[in-house]
Amino acid sequence: MARYFHFHTAEQLQQTAARLGIDITLQEDLSPLWQPITIGPYRVGNRLCIQPMEGCDGSLDGAPEELTLRRYQRFGAGGAKLIWGEATAVLPEGRANPRQLWLAPHNASSFEKLLVVCRQAHRRVWGDDADLLVGLQLTHSGRYAHFRPLLAMHDPLLDPLTFDRSTGRFVDHHYPLLSDGDLRRIADAFVATARLAWQIGFQFVDVKQCHRYLLNELLAARLRSGPYGGCLENRTRLAREIIQGIRREVPGLLIFTRLNVFDGVPFRVPPGRPEAPGEPWPFTTPVLSAWGTNPENPLEPDLTEPLLWIAEMRQLGVDVVNVSMGNPYASPHLTRPFEYPPPDGYEPPEHPLMGVARHFQLTEKVQRSFPELVVVGSGYSYLQEFAFHAAAANLARRRVSIVGIGRAALAQPDFVYQLRQHGRLERRRVCRTFSYCTALMRSKHHPLGQFPTGCPPFDKEVYGPIWQQAQRR
Ligand SMILES: Cc1cc2nc3c(=O)[nH]c(=O)nc-3n(C[C@H](O)[C@H](O)[C@H](O)COP(=O)(O)O)c2cc1C
Repeated sequence: MARYFHFHTAEQLQQTAARLGIDITLQEDLSPLWQPITIGPYRVGNRLCIQPMEGCDGSLDGAPEELTLRRYQRFGAGGAKLIWGEATAVLPEGRANPRQLWLAPHNASSFEKLLVVCRQAHRRVWGDDADLLVGLQLTHSGRYAHFRPLLAMHDPLLDPLTFDRSTGRFVDHHYPLLSDGDLRRIADAFVATARLAWQIGFQFVDVKQCHRYLLNELLAARLRSGPYGGCLENRTRLAREIIQGIRREVPGLLIFTRLNVFDGVPFRVPPGRPEAPGEPWPFTTPVLSAWGTNPENPLEPDLTEPLLWIAEMRQLGVDVVNVSMGNPYASPHLTRPFEYPPPDGYEPPEHPLMGVARHFQLTEKVQRSFPELVVVGSGYSYLQEFAFHAAAANLARRRVSIVGIGRAALAQPDFVYQLRQHGRLERRRVCRTFSYCTALMRSKHHPLGQFPTGCPPFDKEVYGPIWQQAQRR
């Protein structure tokens, strides 16, 4: 399979972008990265955010453990001024893996430790943490709950791909849905967990509405009946109730959201042709079970509803929107453009630069629609050593307010330090998007379902042996 990333200079990358007809500009001047920004009562010291990335390394009762603490210590020391803590379940049955974090009174002190470790590390390297903002992504995994899928609706596209490990079967139309009462209890859990996060000292929570977890599935629940399905007002009801509940009960806490603006459809390896580019699973139009998606051509985004919902969330008091898209299990090329797929994935169905450009373009649409809103962009890691030149250009052109860095931060958590000291990343630790991190998460051969994840090639000391163990299995 031909590979795509062979750019040695910014000119080469931009020539390919021009040939593909996409808008990726790079600039040498990195100064836009270092401009502070105000969010609510806080001054945030630069325009760089560590994206939420779970490590599947908590204890079985949801507490951060040694590897989790190490990750936040490294992120804290790294120098990005917005640290968007990873997916943290609000209920144990809502966890996406048995070692996903789950915040509850019994383990609150461990989360407090995580926050202390992160802030201390930041102060040690940067002298002051007054302009560092740290929060937590609150989640319920819904369809992707580890122990048993918890569905908000029957999705003709995703049901046949949703495996119930408690029965060893795929979900079908007889599978029970979460009731309206179940959803209300989940909303209460979001609010209670947000209160706990605030008591611990997190400055914001993210009411997670992306990657087809529960609140994202509800946004697309045209096919559900009752108060939480059908029209847009109903589909946004649960998230609205959660946001209002947090506003009312924890007024000091900032509310952010990571939002899919485009779900799209699932992709697969073409049958019998594992080397060929991935292709969409067959679908019939109109596709009604995808959010931010043109029902007649579901390969195409339609931001009409996401923009209406963002306008309403602004009124409800949401301060920051982190734009994402796709489904990490079913359409990972949308969420995180990659050079090499994970073992359960497919070859890129498009030049991965197209995926990066889609992120930039849809994020720009949100930012231009709401010039005062703080918008975080995603999908930069594929650009490797050019990521921060694209970040600077996007900031300078006001296509985005803050740039989020995911996989690249696992490979080189001190990227801000490197950029500040040397004006560029350390070349031998640049993420090459080879999907080792996802491969570890997806490996089914660990007794607990998944291996803890990090960056085996560039954080060898810790993740090298874990990678070897995964391979042996
Ligand atoms: C190992 C790993 C864990 C992730 N965990 C989360 C998560 O907890 N919450 C979330 O919203 N996104 C999660 N993501 C997605 C990233 O936040 C990010 O959107 C994605 O990797 C694309 O950004 P990048 O190109 O900078 O890597 C995860 C990604 C990876 C690779």
